[in-house]
Amino acid sequence: MADRVEIFDTTLRDGEQSPGASMNVHEKLEMARQLERLGVDIIEAGFPIASEQEFQGVRKIAETVRAPRIAALARSVPKDIERAAAALEPAERPVLHTFIATSDIHLEHKLRMSREQVLGAVAEAVGLAKRLVGRVEFSAEDATRSDLDFLVEVAKTALAAGADVINLPDTVGYTTPVEIERMFAYVIEKTPGADQAVFSSHNHNDLGLAVANALAAVRGGARQVECTVNGIGERAGNTSLEELVMAMRTRHDVYPYTTGIVSEEINNSSRLLSNITGLVIPYNKPVVGRNAFAHEAGIHQHGMIANKATYEIMTPESVGRARSELVLGKHSGRHGLARRCADMGFDLSETELTQLYGKFIELADRKKEVFEDDLRVLIASMRDESFETYRLRQLRVSGSDPAMALVKLSRGGAEFVETATGDGPVHSACMAIERITGVVGTLTEFSVRAATPGKDALGEAHVTVEFDGRPTTGTGGSTDIVEAAVQAYVNALNKFLALQSTREDAAAAAQGT
Ligand code: KIV
Ligand code: ZN
Repeated sequence: MADRVEIFDTTLRDGEQSPGASMNVHEKLEMARQLERLGVDIIEAGFPIASEQEFQGVRKIAETVRAPRIAALARSVPKDIERAAAALEPAERPVLHTFIATSDIHLEHKLRMSREQVLGAVAEAVGLAKRLVGRVEFSAEDATRSDLDFLVEVAKTALAAGADVINLPDTVGYTTPVEIERMFAYVIEKTPGADQAVFSSHNHNDLGLAVANALAAVRGGARQVECTVNGIGERAGNTSLEELVMAMRTRHDVYPYTTGIVSEEINNSSRLLSNITGLVIPYNKPVVGRNAFAHEAGIHQHGMIANKATYEIMTPESVGRARSELVLGKHSGRHGLARRCADMGFDLSETELTQLYGKFIELADRKKEVFEDDLRVLIASMRDESFETYRLRQLRVSGSDPAMALVKLSRGGAEFVETATGDGPVHSACMAIERITGVVGTLTEFSVRAATPGKDALGEAHVTVEFDGRPTTGTGGSTDIVEAAVQAYVNALNKFLALQSTREDAAAAAQGT
């Protein structure tokens, strides 16, 4: 059996289902381009039937991104499959991914279908998908809690109907490494024609076992793994791409498999996703967390000076982290800035570069050394400005109990100013924004941390705001932490408004208006 494992990235589909992680079409496209640089084999771009925005996101990625295959998800029903096929239409190498649950608990309580009916639905769905799109992946949802012999029947039926990939997901994060390795080995051995198909593993991290289970599935015969950058996803998340890939590299003696991942792009991918979604990377997250390569204990530092291999099992360079320590200053110039942004994977237009350069000089005046992470925060703050959205023009706060804020926002050509009082500077500024926009939001989470080392660091603010009961994340950056927080609030507000307008468009289209 070949030792190449294909990486199916579902950051933009299952990952985006993390509460608060929703991305607009532009953000999805930006992330998809970075996934292409990262070298993933397949990008699952979305679930087109779910909304107009999802449909447009898949379509835009299918039009633009060429190196990886582009996949779209559909339940095993004709309207989903037809919608997914339409979204994939511009793709050079599309994959239609259709699924239905196979565990008795799902059959009885969710689908209210018998096993025979499920087999019939598999045959019909895969058959239709195959007629519309060249390559089909079939997923047996909740496979790890399904009867093994029924799974074999399901795989047999899907293959007979034309499936190219059979995915056996651990939908609820329940299985263990020993069990999942056996499951793959069993289903592959018992399914006629299994050698003509690719078997895939898709794991959730409810028990913290997603990466271990994916590695075990590969030992059992899976040759495709579905994962997300930073492990984002429903509940506790999905298999973390960077952990899986670096485990295979670092312990190649135990996992003698290869992937097409350009590991030096891992850091760029991880940081970009965090900036877009506002989902903070835990400091101790393997591979990409701030502390993942930090050696605090004196005895470790002593060993590292003598020989890095004493305490370092992989190098920061191998995941693209060493370069991020190099600083830029005022004298780096526009060309230096442009080159660094290109190395970081940002494809900026001349206008964007001019705008960034202005912000960069302003920051370099306030703080001597500018790091890559500072640039990421500046670029994230510019992302908003390219849309018809609110922009923070001025913020003045005074006092603390109560605090008073004056906020000036612009939208299109118009400017709006309001003042309000509140329990603190951030609260009063949010109240002023509410007066301007008429949109009521509840700030449910708020954190500020230094983007880079040093007392003069740029503060990176992350907020979660509930608008209309929907958690929406936002990010902002400034050397003034109140300003960073208010920018993050405006960023969340803009995301909510963009989502709302695509929903309204979809409703209008549905009514034929
Ligand atoms: O977790 C799951 O079962 C899924 C499928 C749709 C593949 O995400
Ligand atoms: Zn999933």
